[in-house]
Amino acid sequence: MLDIAFVKPALPRSGALVLPLPEGELPAGLARAAEEATGGLLSRALDAAGFKGRKGQSATLWAPVPGLARIVAVGIGKPGELTPEAAEAAGGAIAPLVASEREALLAADALPPALAAHLGFGAMLRSWRFDRYRTTEKEEDKPKLERLAIAASSVPEAKSAFAPMRAIADGVFLTRELVSEPPNVLDPAEFAERCKGLEKLGVEVEIMGPKELKRMGFGAMLGVAQGSAKEPRMVVMQWRGAPRTRKQKPVALIGKGVTFDTGGISIKPAGGMEDMKWDMAGAGAVVGAMAALAGRKAKADVVGLIGLVENMPSGTAQRPGDVVKTYSGQTVEVINTDAEGRLVLADVMWYCQERFDPRCMVDLATLTGAIIVALGHEHAGLFSNDDELAQRVAAAGKGVGEQVWRMPLGEAYDKQIKSDIADMKNVGGRQGGSITAAQFLQRFTNGRPWAHLDIAGTAWSSKDLPVAAKGATAFGVRLLDRLVAEMAEEG
Ligand code: BES
Ligand code: MN
Ligand code: ZN
Repeated sequence: MLDIAFVKPALPRSGALVLPLPEGELPAGLARAAEEATGGLLSRALDAAGFKGRKGQSATLWAPVPGLARIVAVGIGKPGELTPEAAEAAGGAIAPLVASEREALLAADALPPALAAHLGFGAMLRSWRFDRYRTTEKEEDKPKLERLAIAASSVPEAKSAFAPMRAIADGVFLTRELVSEPPNVLDPAEFAERCKGLEKLGVEVEIMGPKELKRMGFGAMLGVAQGSAKEPRMVVMQWRGAPRTRKQKPVALIGKGVTFDTGGISIKPAGGMEDMKWDMAGAGAVVGAMAALAGRKAKADVVGLIGLVENMPSGTAQRPGDVVKTYSGQTVEVINTDAEGRLVLADVMWYCQERFDPRCMVDLATLTGAIIVALGHEHAGLFSNDDELAQRVAAAGKGVGEQVWRMPLGEAYDKQIKSDIADMKNVGGRQGGSITAAQFLQRFTNGRPWAHLDIAGTAWSSKDLPVAAKGATAFGVRLLDRLVAEMAEEG
């Protein structure tokens, strides 16, 4: 993992010098010092390259002075208009540009220290990669950047702004790792075991296996699990960070953790089925958010619950037509065994509200292909029975670059999941598929403030993004961290 250090401004003698440059004149400080050290080559080269300092622009000068391998200029737009999110994107753009250097110095001395921290955060998030299973990659093809020193106008201020970001990055990386792991490695038992790792951050972790789930009556979740040779798990994580004088009901986070979704007897087509290893990204985001909150010692009480199963076809698998009894007592006719996420969440959500009496519940799930049809990969779907909570979730997402778009709920949609023989069926037809899935979940909220994020389109990216290389994005970790900060820690 990339090591970030904040240092006093001084030109480096080796490696790369990275200059975040606004439109117009070179800023005072290290950029001007570099201009002088290169005898004016810097500005001449930038002119020749057509570099104007616009966002998204970059230019590289090779061997500009003896010792220094390169100067990389990255555009940050109009002077004084850099937002935290744009700073993170600029930081993200830097990572691949200096990946073949072992060390780089980022000259953020002309920017406010908080923005220097955001630049570092972006670089850190963008440079994470999952290489556990690469054994034959050539040394020269591997990214080498180990240390990014960031020159800041105030080292202590930049450091303290960066401290929570480091904890959040750790949470993001944990999520990305869980989501990236192959399904033969990360089965429900292994996933639960990895949650135990949060204990060292002060999180209480409980794991429940099939016996307990059966005793409690988790009929819907167990119906999904019954076709698999892998045992299901539910993990309950508690972070108690609220000061004794400011105790409130906890915020509850709930995640869908299907470690592999074949569809079950309603089996999916072969093409692209490997993608269904990341059908546990909701649970992954909840675990990463708990790690981030505990890592930065958030002053709030938060519980995280995840339901972990594998959805397989077999002689013991549940059938289309089966009726299962959920933990809430409501019965469900299983029309399609591929609509399994809602069955898992139904039991976990009811249990969560009954045991913890939370002030709100936020669930994350790679729930439907239909949400990708509706929103593509740019927004997650937001569904809520509470306008204020919905607004808070949307604002938190906007603030961290994890955008959500609110979708409707309503009685007419709810009718689509009426069953002829049970309290409901688990699918409502092709039309409005992500909405009827949310209607199903709403029946397990017991009327409590609840928000559901359908992250099927955003949990994984097939292209590089500003602050995430292609692959697992950890969508939701930063949103949840921000939501808790604004909802439960303010004041
Ligand atoms: N895990 C899938 C949803 C999904 C699809 C996530 C594509 C990411 C990418 C979910 O369990 C599922 O299979 N949903 C079905 C529901 C249908 C049977 C009502 C779907 O979306 O097709
Ligand atoms: Mn499915
Ligand atoms: Zn699924």
